[in-house]
Amino acid sequence: MPRGPRFFAVVPAAGRGERFGGRYPKQYVALLGRPVLSWSLRALLAVPTVFSVVVALSTGDRRFARLPEARDPRVRTCRGGERRELSVANALEALAGEARDEDWVLVHDAARPCLDPSDVRRLVATLRDDPVGGLLGLPVGDTLKAAGRDGRCDGTVPRDGLWRALTPQMFRYGVLRRALRLNLERGRAVTDEAAAVEALGLRPRLVTGRTDNIKITFPGDLGLAAAILRTGWSEKDEDRARLRRSRL
Ligand code: CTP
Ligand code: MG
Repeated sequence: MPRGPRFFAVVPAAGRGERFGGRYPKQYVALLGRPVLSWSLRALLAVPTVFSVVVALSTGDRRFARLPEARDPRVRTCRGGERRELSVANALEALAGEARDEDWVLVHDAARPCLDPSDVRRLVATLRDDPVGGLLGLPVGDTLKAAGRDGRCDGTVPRDGLWRALTPQMFRYGVLRRALRLNLERGRAVTDEAAAVEALGLRPRLVTGRTDNIKITFPGDLGLAAAILRTGWSEKDEDRARLRRSRL
């Protein structure tokens, strides 16, 4: 019997976290009592539409197996690559034979632990019938400056129409695989899936995400992430509000 497209998730978690520094990669740093990567996975696993999750790990990673999410039947791992896009490409290869071209893949950075499941649901709901796919993003709010090497302003860059790209980014399995392959053949470096898909001549859709979906890049980002996570997922808040209303 024909089935509708499935929703797979891919989590690149094979980076070294050089800008963050520290004794081990930032995805394993403790954040309110659990590693950054645990938080990122929990947000994806909280969405039942997500059929399974492939986590790309660096060779010799011994930390992942200790996470509670490692025992979740929806979670499996694959070997990461030297660059983020190679880690994602490996995860797509790991899905070959199971995922069909028309299935969806949501790629989410291990380093974004504050993802709220409501954003995942909205991304899926907005794009599930889209011919191309797209990504969570945010219109740039700050004034942008072009900096000279001497640390002085060379000019002010108009921010109209400029967005920051977040994750998850959601594309059809077949399209994303083709885009990443072509990109590797051309020897181009891309920092997100959307850029690879754009190189196919396609135009991914921008879906407004939450401003608190921050990426852990520098040590100072941890405190902000902790403050965000302390407030809990918006859905839990909504559930609590619903519960309160039902008791009135
Ligand atoms: N990533 C990956 N494989 C790589 C490089 C990065 O899976 N070879 C993952 C990281 O683990 C992270 C995500 O891609 O979850 C986003 O990358 P980034 O924030 O740049 O993390 P790092 O590459 O680890 O950090 P840095 O660039 O500071 O070294
Ligand atoms: Mg990096």
